[in-house]
Amino acid sequence: MTDWEALARPSLQGLERYDPGPSRDQMKQRHGLAELEPLNWNEDLFGPPAEALEAAAAELGKVAYYPERAYADFREAVAAHMELPAASIIPAHGVQSLIGTIATAFVDAGTTVVTPTPTYGLYAQVSAAAGAEVVRVAGRGLDIDLDAVAEAARSYGARVVWLSDPNNPTGGVVSPGDWSQFLDRLPPACAVIADEAYMDFADPALRADRIRDVVDGRPVIMLRSFSKTYGLAGLRLGFAIADPEVARLLDIVQEPFNVNRVALAAGRAAVALPGFVETRRAEVAAARELLRELLTERGLSTHPSQANFLLVNLGMDDGPVCERLLREGVLIRGGTEFGLPGFARITVAREPVMRRTAELVGEAIAAAS
Ligand SMILES: Cc1ncc(COP(=O)(O)O)c(C=O)c1O
Repeated sequence: MTDWEALARPSLQGLERYDPGPSRDQMKQRHGLAELEPLNWNEDLFGPPAEALEAAAAELGKVAYYPERAYADFREAVAAHMELPAASIIPAHGVQSLIGTIATAFVDAGTTVVTPTPTYGLYAQVSAAAGAEVVRVAGRGLDIDLDAVAEAARSYGARVVWLSDPNNPTGGVVSPGDWSQFLDRLPPACAVIADEAYMDFADPALRADRIRDVVDGRPVIMLRSFSKTYGLAGLRLGFAIADPEVARLLDIVQEPFNVNRVALAAGRAAVALPGFVETRRAEVAAARELLRELLTERGLSTHPSQANFLLVNLGMDDGPVCERLLREGVLIRGGTEFGLPGFARITVAREPVMRRTAELVGEAIAAAS
């Protein structure tokens, strides 16, 4: 028998692969459910714009051909939408793919990376797989402690800091003031990867202006996704915003045709829609506020969120609560899975779903007490 682990990169030893768990269809079958509300993965449950789907369908006629010209049309469409030079846009098949590519380009055996905790687990996973030492910095309560992150980056001589802003799983945002202070305190030769997968949902007045930082030549790489605001998670599409020199380096390691034509066409159509992001942000904010109110009425506290999900403190083991909701056809993410036992993360959906979910959470807690 071949010992595959011995042949693989030594840094993979002892690491577990990402396990998405049973599929939604399997869960429906297991619990005899006709419908399942998928409030566990923070997809955009308000759905993609029709124009994006039409553009995707029209592109199907061309799938015999590779995507051409280094995605120039997509880069230009995004650049116009974000008011940036097209050379600063680096497309990829989702932010997850960019996280992996950045780790390949910037992280190596012997380097150190810093990540706050709790946060999105993929940063630590890809960094450890690349051989880096991962320093996890505890927050102040559930909020990211940016002073401590900068201090850790300095004392460990970190090459990379990973930040999710708004942060998954809390939905909290880094204020513009805290961000600029943080950037000034970073050690030299350290890059910050700011994963803004949820930033389109955040109130513009609360956001750090990282596009300005990129333009000013600061050591910042921003990541944006079409999985959240535009409802295109299944097509896998995202992009980085960075110095054109970063684009050159990432292009050395990422596959030449890694983004498919259909996703590119849908993305082009989506970013060209005037007012779409603003409308979606308002819809999500209203539904998120409703869910917050309904949970508060039931005596539950939630973390302030600027994303399309809400972290709720259940005050009891999250396992039985999630299990009971699942039996009723509502899938939420128990905090035990991401290091916050006693909490649950709930993706924001339309009003009737939010009302039903709050009711079921209240019933599950009442049943346990
Ligand atoms: C912080 C964060 N970044 C990235 C992603 C994935 O983005 P994409 O679908 O573009 O790969 C997620 C998905 O849950 C996320 O929570």
